[in-house]
Amino acid sequence: MSYLGIDLGTSGLRALLLAEDGSVLGSAEHSCTSQHKHPGWSEQDPAEWIAALEGAVAALRDAHPEFADLRAVGVAGHMHGATLLDSNGDVIRPCILWNDTRADAEARHLDALPGIRDISGNIVFPGFTAPKLLWVREHEPENFARIAKVLLPAAYMNYYLTGDYVADMSDSAGTSWLDVSRRTWSEELLIAGQMSDSQMPRLVEGCQPAGTLRADLASRWGLRNSVTVAGGAGDNAAAACGLGALNEGDGFISLGTSGVLLAARDGYHPDPASALHTFCHAVPDRWYQMGVMLSATDSLNWLGQITGQKPADLTRALGDELRAPGRVQFYPYLSGERTPHNDANIRGGFTGLGKDTDQSDLTCAVLEGVVYGLSDSYDALVQTGARIDRLIGIGGGTKSRYWVKLIATVLNVPIELPQDGEFGAALGAARLGQIAETGASPEDILTPPSIGERVLPDSSKTADYEAAKAQFKAAYGPLRQISSRG
Ligand code: XUL
Repeated sequence: MSYLGIDLGTSGLRALLLAEDGSVLGSAEHSCTSQHKHPGWSEQDPAEWIAALEGAVAALRDAHPEFADLRAVGVAGHMHGATLLDSNGDVIRPCILWNDTRADAEARHLDALPGIRDISGNIVFPGFTAPKLLWVREHEPENFARIAKVLLPAAYMNYYLTGDYVADMSDSAGTSWLDVSRRTWSEELLIAGQMSDSQMPRLVEGCQPAGTLRADLASRWGLRNSVTVAGGAGDNAAAACGLGALNEGDGFISLGTSGVLLAARDGYHPDPASALHTFCHAVPDRWYQMGVMLSATDSLNWLGQITGQKPADLTRALGDELRAPGRVQFYPYLSGERTPHNDANIRGGFTGLGKDTDQSDLTCAVLEGVVYGLSDSYDALVQTGARIDRLIGIGGGTKSRYWVKLIATVLNVPIELPQDGEFGAALGAARLGQIAETGASPEDILTPPSIGERVLPDSSKTADYEAAKAQFKAAYGPLRQISSRG
Protein backbone atom coordinates (compact mmCIF):
# COMPACT_ATOMS: atom_id res chain seq x y z
CA MET A 1 0.00 0.00 0.00
CA SER A 2 1.18 3.53 -0.68
CA TYR A 3 -0.11 7.07 -0.22
CA LEU A 4 0.51 10.11 -2.41
CA GLY A 5 0.90 13.65 -1.07
CA ILE A 6 0.82 16.58 -3.47
CA ASP A 7 2.00 20.03 -2.49
CA LEU A 8 1.01 22.60 -5.08
CA GLY A 9 3.35 25.50 -4.26
CA THR A 10 3.67 28.85 -5.98
CA SER A 11 6.92 27.97 -7.72
CA GLY A 12 6.25 24.29 -8.32
CA LEU A 13 4.49 21.08 -7.42
CA ARG A 14 6.02 18.42 -5.20
CA ALA A 15 4.66 14.87 -5.10
CA LEU A 16 5.66 12.48 -2.33
CA LEU A 17 5.02 8.75 -2.11
CA LEU A 18 4.66 7.25 1.37
CA ALA A 19 4.72 3.59 2.39
CA GLU A 20 2.14 2.15 4.78
CA ASP A 21 4.56 2.54 7.72
CA GLY A 22 4.90 6.28 7.00
CA SER A 23 8.38 6.04 5.49
CA VAL A 24 9.15 7.97 2.32
CA LEU A 25 9.45 5.93 -0.88
CA GLY A 26 10.31 8.82 -3.16
CA SER A 27 9.40 12.26 -4.43
CA ALA A 28 9.28 14.24 -7.65
CA GLU A 29 9.02 17.94 -8.44
CA HIS A 30 7.86 20.05 -11.35
CA SER A 31 8.11 23.82 -11.57
CA CYS A 32 5.24 26.21 -12.31
CA THR A 33 5.44 29.79 -13.53
CA SER A 34 3.48 32.84 -12.34
CA GLN A 35 2.50 35.76 -14.52
CA HIS A 36 2.63 39.35 -13.30
CA LYS A 37 0.89 41.39 -16.01
CA HIS A 38 0.70 44.53 -13.86
CA PRO A 39 2.41 45.60 -10.62
CA GLY A 40 0.74 43.77 -7.74
CA TRP A 41 -0.83 41.12 -10.02
CA SER A 42 0.05 37.45 -9.70
CA GLU A 43 -1.66 34.73 -11.76
CA GLN A 44 -1.16 31.11 -12.75
CA ASP A 45 -2.67 28.95 -15.45
CA PRO A 46 -4.28 25.90 -13.78
CA ALA A 47 -3.29 23.86 -16.86
CA GLU A 48 0.30 24.17 -15.60
CA TRP A 49 -0.72 22.61 -12.25
CA ILE A 50 -2.18 19.61 -14.08
CA ALA A 51 0.88 19.27 -16.33
CA ALA A 52 3.10 19.43 -13.23
CA LEU A 53 0.96 16.80 -11.46
CA GLU A 54 1.03 14.45 -14.43
CA GLY A 55 4.80 14.95 -14.82
CA ALA A 56 5.46 14.23 -11.14
CA VAL A 57 3.16 11.20 -11.14
CA ALA A 58 4.89 9.80 -14.24
CA ALA A 59 8.28 10.18 -12.53
CA LEU A 60 7.08 8.45 -9.33
CA ARG A 61 5.37 5.66 -11.23
CA ASP A 62 8.51 4.96 -13.28
CA ALA A 63 10.82 4.98 -10.26
CA HIS A 64 8.68 3.16 -7.66
CA PRO A 65 6.76 -0.08 -8.30
CA GLU A 66 4.86 0.61 -5.04
CA PHE A 67 3.00 3.38 -6.89
CA ALA A 68 0.77 0.72 -8.48
CA ASP A 69 -0.52 -0.07 -4.96
CA LEU A 70 -1.62 3.50 -4.29
CA ARG A 71 -4.56 3.67 -1.86
CA ALA A 72 -5.03 7.39 -1.19
CA VAL A 73 -4.08 10.89 -2.34
CA GLY A 74 -4.08 14.17 -0.42
CA VAL A 75 -3.51 17.60 -1.95
CA ALA A 76 -2.13 20.71 -0.24
CA GLY A 77 -2.26 23.98 -2.15
CA HIS A 78 -1.20 27.57 -1.93
CA MET A 79 -4.16 29.27 -0.34
CA HIS A 80 -6.71 31.94 -1.33
CA GLY A 81 -6.39 31.58 -5.15
CA ALA A 82 -9.57 32.06 -7.20
CA THR A 83 -9.97 29.41 -9.91
CA LEU A 84 -13.14 30.24 -11.81
CA LEU A 85 -15.01 27.48 -13.64
CA ASP A 86 -17.91 27.70 -16.08
CA SER A 87 -20.88 25.33 -16.19
CA ASN A 88 -18.81 22.80 -18.21
CA GLY A 89 -16.12 22.76 -15.52
CA ASP A 90 -13.72 24.68 -17.80
CA VAL A 91 -11.36 27.33 -16.43
CA ILE A 92 -12.60 30.84 -17.32
CA ARG A 93 -9.45 32.88 -16.69
CA PRO A 94 -6.03 32.42 -15.02
CA CYS A 95 -6.17 31.80 -11.26
CA ILE A 96 -5.63 34.99 -9.24
CA LEU A 97 -3.13 34.03 -6.53
CA TRP A 98 -2.67 34.64 -2.79
CA ASN A 99 0.06 37.27 -3.37
CA ASP A 100 -2.01 39.32 -5.82
CA THR A 101 -2.97 42.65 -4.27
CA ARG A 102 -5.19 44.13 -7.00
CA ALA A 103 -8.34 43.71 -4.89
CA ASP A 104 -7.26 46.15 -2.20
CA ALA A 105 -10.27 48.47 -2.57
CA GLU A 106 -12.70 45.52 -2.68
CA ALA A 107 -11.08 44.02 0.43
CA ARG A 108 -11.43 47.29 2.31
CA HIS A 109 -15.07 47.54 1.26
CA LEU A 110 -15.87 44.02 2.47
CA ASP A 111 -13.82 44.37 5.63
CA ALA A 112 -15.77 47.49 6.63
CA LEU A 113 -19.18 45.74 6.40
CA PRO A 114 -20.66 45.06 9.84
CA GLY A 115 -20.34 41.48 11.04
CA ILE A 116 -17.87 40.28 8.38
CA ARG A 117 -14.93 39.90 10.74
CA ASP A 118 -17.18 38.34 13.40
CA ILE A 119 -18.24 35.52 11.10
CA SER A 120 -15.00 34.94 9.18
CA GLY A 121 -12.77 35.51 12.23
CA ASN A 122 -10.36 37.43 10.03
CA ILE A 123 -9.68 40.72 8.36
CA VAL A 124 -10.65 40.54 4.70
CA PHE A 125 -7.16 40.80 3.21
CA PRO A 126 -6.71 41.76 -0.46
CA GLY A 127 -5.04 38.37 -1.03
CA PHE A 128 -8.12 36.46 0.19
CA THR A 129 -10.60 35.03 -2.29
CA ALA A 130 -13.81 37.04 -1.75
CA PRO A 131 -12.39 40.46 -2.73
CA LYS A 132 -10.88 38.91 -5.88
CA LEU A 133 -14.36 37.91 -6.98
CA LEU A 134 -15.67 41.43 -6.40
CA TRP A 135 -12.77 42.66 -8.55
CA VAL A 136 -13.71 40.25 -11.35
CA ARG A 137 -17.35 41.35 -11.08
CA GLU A 138 -16.32 44.98 -11.50
CA HIS A 139 -13.58 44.63 -14.12
CA GLU A 140 -14.45 41.47 -16.04
CA PRO A 141 -18.28 41.28 -15.89
CA GLU A 142 -18.39 38.87 -18.86
CA ASN A 143 -16.20 36.41 -16.91
CA PHE A 144 -18.12 36.94 -13.68
CA ALA A 145 -21.40 36.13 -15.41
CA ARG A 146 -20.03 32.72 -16.48
CA ILE A 147 -18.91 31.52 -13.03
CA ALA A 148 -20.54 28.24 -12.04
CA LYS A 149 -17.95 27.30 -9.37
CA VAL A 150 -15.06 28.99 -7.58
CA LEU A 151 -12.35 26.60 -6.44
CA LEU A 152 -9.19 27.14 -4.43
CA PRO A 153 -6.09 25.66 -6.09
CA ALA A 154 -6.16 22.49 -3.95
CA ALA A 155 -9.90 22.07 -4.58
CA TYR A 156 -9.26 22.41 -8.31
CA MET A 157 -6.80 19.53 -8.01
CA ASN A 158 -9.47 17.57 -6.09
CA TYR A 159 -11.81 18.28 -8.99
CA TYR A 160 -9.25 16.98 -11.49
CA LEU A 161 -8.68 13.88 -9.38
CA THR A 162 -12.30 13.04 -8.50
CA GLY A 163 -14.49 14.89 -11.01
CA ASP A 164 -16.31 16.37 -8.00
CA TYR A 165 -16.29 19.87 -6.50
CA VAL A 166 -14.96 19.36 -2.95
CA ALA A 167 -12.84 21.59 -0.71
CA ASP A 168 -11.49 21.16 2.79
CA MET A 169 -12.17 23.56 5.66
CA SER A 170 -8.60 24.66 6.38
CA ASP A 171 -8.23 26.07 2.88
CA SER A 172 -11.80 27.36 2.68
CA ALA A 173 -11.25 29.38 5.86
CA GLY A 174 -9.07 31.75 3.80
CA THR A 175 -11.85 32.77 1.41
CA SER A 176 -13.80 35.21 3.65
CA TRP A 177 -16.91 33.18 2.75
CA LEU A 178 -16.59 30.60 5.52
CA ASP A 179 -18.04 30.78 9.02
CA VAL A 180 -14.74 29.69 10.57
CA SER A 181 -16.12 28.81 13.98
CA ARG A 182 -19.01 26.67 12.59
CA ARG A 183 -16.99 25.31 9.63
CA THR A 184 -19.74 25.99 7.07
CA TRP A 185 -20.24 28.39 4.18
CA SER A 186 -21.85 31.55 5.55
CA GLU A 187 -24.89 32.79 3.70
CA GLU A 188 -24.25 36.29 5.00
CA LEU A 189 -20.64 36.34 3.81
CA LEU A 190 -21.59 34.90 0.42
CA ILE A 191 -24.26 37.56 -0.05
CA ALA A 192 -21.76 40.28 0.90
CA GLY A 193 -19.35 38.86 -1.68
CA GLN A 194 -22.07 38.66 -4.40
CA MET A 195 -21.72 34.87 -4.49
CA SER A 196 -24.15 32.02 -3.92
CA ASP A 197 -23.93 28.70 -2.13
CA SER A 198 -24.34 26.86 -5.47
CA GLN A 199 -21.03 28.35 -6.65
CA MET A 200 -19.19 26.82 -3.68
CA PRO A 201 -17.71 23.31 -3.53
CA ARG A 202 -18.95 20.78 -0.99
CA LEU A 203 -17.02 20.98 2.29
CA VAL A 204 -15.24 18.12 4.07
CA GLU A 205 -12.60 17.98 6.78
CA GLY A 206 -9.06 17.67 5.39
CA CYS A 207 -8.63 14.15 6.75
CA GLN A 208 -12.01 12.91 5.51
CA PRO A 209 -12.59 11.31 2.10
CA ALA A 210 -13.53 13.83 -0.60
CA GLY A 211 -14.13 11.16 -3.22
CA THR A 212 -12.53 8.44 -5.30
CA LEU A 213 -9.86 8.85 -7.96
CA ARG A 214 -11.45 8.99 -11.44
CA ALA A 215 -11.42 5.58 -13.09
CA ASP A 216 -9.76 6.90 -16.27
CA LEU A 217 -6.90 8.41 -14.24
CA ALA A 218 -6.53 5.24 -12.16
CA SER A 219 -6.21 3.14 -15.28
CA ARG A 220 -3.84 5.59 -17.04
CA TRP A 221 -1.66 5.71 -13.91
CA GLY A 222 -1.61 1.88 -13.81
CA LEU A 223 -3.24 1.55 -10.38
CA ARG A 224 -4.51 -1.77 -9.05
CA ASN A 225 -7.05 -0.53 -6.48
CA SER A 226 -9.68 2.07 -5.96
CA VAL A 227 -8.00 5.21 -4.53
CA THR A 228 -9.46 7.56 -1.89
CA VAL A 229 -8.90 11.29 -2.36
CA ALA A 230 -8.82 13.16 0.97
CA GLY A 231 -10.21 16.65 1.53
CA GLY A 232 -6.62 17.91 1.62
CA ALA A 233 -5.57 21.25 3.09
CA GLY A 234 -4.21 24.72 2.60
CA ASP A 235 -0.42 24.58 2.50
CA ASN A 236 0.14 25.90 6.02
CA ALA A 237 -2.34 23.49 7.65
CA ALA A 238 -0.75 20.67 5.63
CA ALA A 239 2.73 21.71 6.81
CA ALA A 240 1.39 21.65 10.38
CA CYS A 241 0.19 18.07 9.72
CA GLY A 242 3.65 17.16 8.40
CA LEU A 243 5.21 18.60 11.57
CA GLY A 244 2.71 17.15 14.01
CA ALA A 245 1.58 20.66 15.03
CA LEU A 246 -1.92 19.68 16.10
CA ASN A 247 -2.35 20.70 19.73
CA GLU A 248 -2.11 23.88 21.78
CA GLY A 249 1.58 24.53 22.42
CA ASP A 250 2.74 23.24 18.99
CA GLY A 251 3.97 25.76 16.45
CA PHE A 252 6.33 26.40 13.58
CA ILE A 253 8.04 29.24 11.83
CA SER A 254 8.45 28.95 8.08
CA LEU A 255 11.00 31.02 6.19
CA GLY A 256 9.81 30.58 2.63
CA THR A 257 8.74 33.03 -0.10
CA SER A 258 6.24 34.18 2.49
CA GLY A 259 7.11 33.99 6.18
CA VAL A 260 4.67 32.23 8.48
CA LEU A 261 4.50 31.86 12.23
CA LEU A 262 1.83 29.31 13.10
CA ALA A 263 0.39 28.07 16.39
CA ALA A 264 -2.07 25.17 16.65
CA ARG A 265 -5.13 25.97 18.79
CA ASP A 266 -7.50 23.63 20.62
CA GLY A 267 -10.28 26.20 20.33
CA TYR A 268 -11.41 29.10 18.19
CA HIS A 269 -9.88 32.38 19.44
CA PRO A 270 -10.11 34.92 16.63
CA ASP A 271 -8.37 38.27 16.92
CA PRO A 272 -8.86 40.01 13.58
CA ALA A 273 -7.68 43.39 14.89
CA SER A 274 -4.15 41.99 15.20
CA ALA A 275 -4.15 40.92 11.52
CA LEU A 276 -3.48 37.36 12.68
CA HIS A 277 -5.16 34.71 10.55
CA THR A 278 -7.50 32.33 12.40
CA PHE A 279 -8.30 29.29 10.26
CA CYS A 280 -9.76 25.80 10.65
CA HIS A 281 -7.15 23.07 10.96
CA ALA A 282 -7.22 20.09 8.60
CA VAL A 283 -8.67 17.84 11.34
CA PRO A 284 -12.07 18.27 13.06
CA ASP A 285 -12.49 20.53 16.10
CA ARG A 286 -9.06 22.16 15.80
CA TRP A 287 -8.05 25.57 14.53
CA TYR A 288 -4.76 27.32 14.04
CA GLN A 289 -3.58 30.90 14.07
CA MET A 290 -0.77 32.41 12.11
CA GLY A 291 0.91 35.63 11.20
CA VAL A 292 1.90 35.96 7.55
CA MET A 293 4.60 38.21 6.13
CA LEU A 294 4.52 38.47 2.36
CA SER A 295 8.26 38.79 1.57
CA ALA A 296 10.51 36.60 3.72
CA THR A 297 13.12 34.76 1.60
CA ASP A 298 11.72 36.89 -1.21
CA SER A 299 13.46 39.87 0.45
CA LEU A 300 16.81 38.07 0.42
CA ASN A 301 16.21 36.90 -3.16
CA TRP A 302 15.62 40.52 -4.10
CA LEU A 303 18.92 41.57 -2.49
CA GLY A 304 20.59 38.69 -4.35
CA GLN A 305 19.17 39.92 -7.64
CA ILE A 306 20.29 43.49 -7.28
CA THR A 307 23.77 42.57 -5.97
CA GLY A 308 24.24 39.77 -8.51
CA GLN A 309 24.86 37.26 -5.67
CA LYS A 310 23.23 33.98 -4.79
CA PRO A 311 21.16 34.39 -1.60
CA ALA A 312 23.03 31.45 0.00
CA ASP A 313 26.37 33.18 -0.71
CA LEU A 314 25.10 36.38 0.90
CA THR A 315 24.23 34.60 4.14
CA ARG A 316 27.32 32.36 4.08
CA ALA A 317 29.51 35.48 3.98
CA LEU A 318 28.19 36.42 7.45
CA GLY A 319 29.73 33.36 9.12
CA ASP A 320 27.95 31.62 12.01
CA GLU A 321 28.66 34.07 14.84
CA LEU A 322 25.66 36.34 15.47
CA ARG A 323 26.59 40.02 15.13
CA ALA A 324 25.16 42.88 17.17
CA PRO A 325 22.12 44.51 15.49
CA GLY A 326 23.21 46.65 12.55
CA ARG A 327 22.87 50.43 12.19
CA VAL A 328 21.29 49.84 8.79
CA GLN A 329 17.68 48.65 8.97
CA PHE A 330 15.55 47.07 6.25
CA TYR A 331 11.76 47.07 6.05
CA PRO A 332 10.65 43.92 4.22
CA TYR A 333 7.45 45.30 2.69
CA LEU A 334 8.39 44.67 -0.94
CA SER A 335 4.87 43.45 -1.77
CA GLY A 336 2.96 45.16 1.05
CA GLU A 337 2.34 43.38 4.34
CA ARG A 338 -0.31 41.28 6.06
CA THR A 339 0.47 40.73 9.76
CA PRO A 340 0.42 43.04 11.64
CA HIS A 341 -0.19 45.94 9.26
CA ASN A 342 -2.73 44.71 6.67
CA ASP A 343 -1.34 47.20 4.19
CA ALA A 344 -1.18 46.27 0.50
CA ASN A 345 0.34 49.61 -0.45
CA ILE A 346 3.23 49.93 1.97
CA ARG A 347 6.64 49.44 0.37
CA GLY A 348 9.99 48.59 1.93
CA GLY A 349 13.16 50.56 2.46
CA PHE A 350 16.57 50.83 4.03
CA THR A 351 17.51 53.38 6.69
CA GLY A 352 20.88 54.17 8.25
CA LEU A 353 22.97 53.79 5.09
CA GLY A 354 26.43 55.37 5.28
CA LYS A 355 29.47 55.56 3.04
CA ASP A 356 30.92 52.74 5.08
CA THR A 357 27.88 50.46 4.48
CA ASP A 358 28.94 47.30 2.69
CA GLN A 359 27.16 44.31 1.26
CA SER A 360 27.24 42.32 4.50
CA ASP A 361 25.56 45.23 6.33
CA LEU A 362 22.76 45.08 3.78
CA THR A 363 22.46 41.29 4.16
CA CYS A 364 22.29 41.60 7.95
CA ALA A 365 19.68 44.34 7.64
CA VAL A 366 17.51 42.18 5.35
CA LEU A 367 17.72 39.15 7.67
CA GLU A 368 17.00 41.32 10.70
CA GLY A 369 14.07 43.12 9.02
CA VAL A 370 12.40 39.81 8.15
CA VAL A 371 12.85 38.55 11.71
CA TYR A 372 11.53 41.76 13.29
CA GLY A 373 8.49 41.46 11.00
CA LEU A 374 7.93 37.87 12.14
CA SER A 375 8.37 38.85 15.76
CA ASP A 376 5.41 41.21 15.30
CA SER A 377 3.37 38.07 14.55
CA TYR A 378 4.86 36.27 17.53
CA ASP A 379 3.82 39.09 19.87
CA ALA A 380 0.31 39.08 18.41
CA LEU A 381 0.00 35.30 18.83
CA VAL A 382 1.09 35.40 22.44
CA GLN A 383 -1.42 38.18 23.09
CA THR A 384 -4.33 36.00 21.91
CA GLY A 385 -3.35 33.52 24.61
CA ALA A 386 -1.65 31.06 22.25
CA ARG A 387 0.85 28.88 24.09
CA ILE A 388 3.98 28.18 22.11
CA ASP A 389 5.93 25.42 23.83
CA ARG A 390 7.94 24.46 20.80
CA LEU A 391 8.75 26.24 17.58
CA ILE A 392 10.05 24.17 14.70
CA GLY A 393 11.92 26.05 11.96
CA ILE A 394 11.28 25.08 8.34
CA GLY A 395 11.62 26.57 4.85
CA GLY A 396 14.55 27.44 2.60
CA GLY A 397 15.69 30.33 4.82
CA THR A 398 16.45 27.97 7.73
CA LYS A 399 19.42 26.62 5.75
CA SER A 400 21.20 29.73 7.09
CA ARG A 401 22.23 29.01 10.71
CA TYR A 402 22.86 32.73 11.08
CA TRP A 403 19.22 33.49 10.25
CA VAL A 404 17.95 30.79 12.62
CA LYS A 405 20.16 32.06 15.46
CA LEU A 406 18.80 35.54 14.81
CA ILE A 407 15.20 34.27 15.04
CA ALA A 408 15.92 32.43 18.29
CA THR A 409 17.53 35.56 19.77
CA VAL A 410 14.91 38.10 18.64
CA LEU A 411 11.96 35.89 19.69
CA ASN A 412 13.93 34.64 22.69
CA VAL A 413 12.79 31.04 22.09
CA PRO A 414 14.81 28.00 21.01
CA ILE A 415 14.20 26.99 17.39
CA GLU A 416 14.12 23.27 16.64
CA LEU A 417 15.41 22.18 13.25
CA PRO A 418 14.15 18.81 11.97
CA GLN A 419 16.65 16.22 10.83
CA ASP A 420 17.00 15.98 7.07
CA GLY A 421 14.00 14.28 5.58
CA GLU A 422 10.38 15.02 4.85
CA PHE A 423 8.25 17.12 7.15
CA GLY A 424 6.54 19.63 4.87
CA ALA A 425 3.15 20.12 3.24
CA ALA A 426 3.54 17.15 0.84
CA LEU A 427 4.07 14.84 3.81
CA GLY A 428 1.10 16.39 5.62
CA ALA A 429 -1.06 15.91 2.52
CA ALA A 430 -0.04 12.25 2.12
CA ARG A 431 -0.81 11.67 5.80
CA LEU A 432 -4.28 13.22 5.37
CA GLY A 433 -4.81 10.73 2.53
CA GLN A 434 -3.74 7.89 4.79
CA ILE A 435 -6.17 8.96 7.55
CA ALA A 436 -9.02 9.38 5.04
CA GLU A 437 -8.43 5.88 3.66
CA THR A 438 -7.74 3.95 6.87
CA GLY A 439 -9.78 5.87 9.44
CA ALA A 440 -6.69 6.02 11.68
CA SER A 441 -6.68 8.62 14.43
CA PRO A 442 -4.98 11.92 13.42
CA GLU A 443 -2.86 11.82 16.62
CA ASP A 444 -1.36 8.49 15.55
CA ILE A 445 -0.41 9.61 12.06
CA LEU A 446 0.35 13.35 12.38
CA THR A 447 3.47 12.97 14.54
CA PRO A 448 6.41 15.41 14.87
CA PRO A 449 9.69 14.82 13.02
CA SER A 450 12.98 13.90 14.72
CA ILE A 451 14.79 17.05 15.70
CA GLY A 452 18.37 17.35 14.46
CA GLU A 453 19.38 20.55 16.22
CA ARG A 454 18.04 23.00 18.79
CA VAL A 455 19.28 26.55 18.14
CA LEU A 456 19.29 28.62 21.34
CA PRO A 457 18.92 32.38 21.76
CA ASP A 458 22.17 34.30 22.24
CA SER A 459 21.25 35.84 25.59
CA SER A 460 24.18 38.28 25.47
CA LYS A 461 22.46 40.04 22.56
CA THR A 462 18.73 39.81 23.33
CA ALA A 463 18.54 43.27 24.95
CA ASP A 464 20.30 44.95 22.00
CA TYR A 465 17.98 43.24 19.56
CA GLU A 466 14.97 44.26 21.65
CA ALA A 467 16.04 47.92 21.30
CA ALA A 468 16.69 47.55 17.56
CA LYS A 469 13.26 45.97 17.11
CA ALA A 470 11.63 48.98 18.80
CA GLN A 471 13.41 51.22 16.28
CA PHE A 472 12.15 48.99 13.42
CA LYS A 473 8.56 49.24 14.67
CA ALA A 474 8.73 53.04 14.91
CA ALA A 475 9.60 53.35 11.21
CA TYR A 476 6.27 51.93 9.98
CA GLY A 477 4.35 55.23 10.22
CA PRO A 478 6.86 57.33 8.24
CA LEU A 479 7.24 54.54 5.66
CA ARG A 480 3.51 54.44 5.18
CA GLN A 481 3.48 58.16 4.48
CA ILE A 482 6.27 57.82 1.94
CA SER A 483 4.55 54.84 0.28
CA SER A 484 1.27 56.74 -0.03
CA ARG A 485 3.12 59.48 -1.96
CA GLY A 486 4.46 56.97 -4.50
C1 XUL B 1 -1.34 32.15 3.77
C2 XUL B 1 -0.74 32.56 2.49
C3 XUL B 1 0.48 31.89 1.99
C4 XUL B 1 0.06 31.01 0.84
C5 XUL B 1 1.22 30.60 -0.03
O1 XUL B 1 -2.39 32.95 4.18
O2 XUL B 1 -1.23 33.42 1.81
O3 XUL B 1 1.17 31.21 2.99
O4 XUL B 1 -0.70 29.94 1.29
O5 XUL B 1 1.99 29.65 0.43
